[in-house]
Amino acid sequence: MLGIEKTSQNKEFEMAFKNVSFSWPEKREYVIKNCSFSINKEGLWMIVGKNGSGKSTLLKLINGILNPTNGVINNSANVGMVFQNPDHQILMPNCRSELLLNINQKLNRNEITHKIKIALNKVGLTGFDKRPIHTLSGGQKQRLTIACCLISEKNFLLMDEPTALLDSYSQLKVLELIKDLTRNKKNPFTALWITHRLEELIYADAVAEMSNGNLSDWQKPLNFQYK
Ligand SMILES: Nc1ncnc2c1ncn2[C@@H]1O[C@H](COP(=O)(O)OP(=O)(O)OP(=O)(O)O)[C@@H](O)[C@H]1O
Ligand SMILES: [Mg+2]
Repeated sequence: MLGIEKTSQNKEFEMAFKNVSFSWPEKREYVIKNCSFSINKEGLWMIVGKNGSGKSTLLKLINGILNPTNGVINNSANVGMVFQNPDHQILMPNCRSELLLNINQKLNRNEITHKIKIALNKVGLTGFDKRPIHTLSGGQKQRLTIACCLISEKNFLLMDEPTALLDSYSQLKVLELIKDLTRNKKNPFTALWITHRLEELIYADAVAEMSNGNLSDWQKPLNFQYK
C-alpha cells in the first residue's frame, strides 16, 4: 500500500468504489467487474490499461454519467472532466465566453473579470481572454478546458487521455500544469489521469492498471509493472 493513503481525521473528500459492477444495456458481460478502490488524497493518480479494458467507463461512473449495475460509489468531490479532444467540450467562440459559461453567475462584473484573469494566469494563458477559440493550438485549448474546471471550483479532475492528441511540447506543458496544481498545498487538488503514454507515469503519485474491468492496487510509479 502507498504513503498516499490518508487517515479519516484529515480526509478532504471521499471517492470510493465498493464492489462496483457495470454492464451496458442489453449486454450480458460486465465491463466493470466487482471493482473496489478509493482515492482520498490530493495528487496525480494515473490509470493505464489496454483498449476496451473499461477506463473511460470507470470515469463515467465516477462523474455520474453512468450508474453502477451493482455496488456503491461514494463521491464527495467536486468533479470536472477533461476529454482527449478539447473540441468535444469547448462550446463558445472565445476564451472569456467559454470561462463565463463555467463561472458562478452571482458574482459582479469586476469579480468575474478578476476570476477570469486568475484562471487564465494559472494555466499559462495570460491575456488570452479575447482570443477566438479557433486561433488556439490543441495544447492551449486543453489548458483552457482546465481553466474552466478551475473557475468552477472543481477539486477533482477526471482526465481521459488529455495528451493523446498533443505534440510532445504541449503534452509536457499540460502534464506539468496538472502536476503543479496537484502539488499546491493551499488548494488541495486531485487529478485522475488516464494514459497510454507510459513515459507520463513518472509524474504520478500513484499508478494503477485497469484490466478486465478491475483496477489493481495503487502503486508508486517506480514500482509499477505493466502486465
Ligand atoms: N456507449 C456504449 N455502448 C455499449 N458499449 C460500450 C459503450 N461505450 C463503451 N462500450 C464498451 O465498453 C467496453 C469498455 O470501453 P471503454 O471505452 O471504457 O474502454 P477504454 O479502456 O477506455 O478503452 P480505450 O483505451 O480504447 O479508450 C468496450 O468493450 C466498449 O466497446
Ligand atoms: Mg477510453
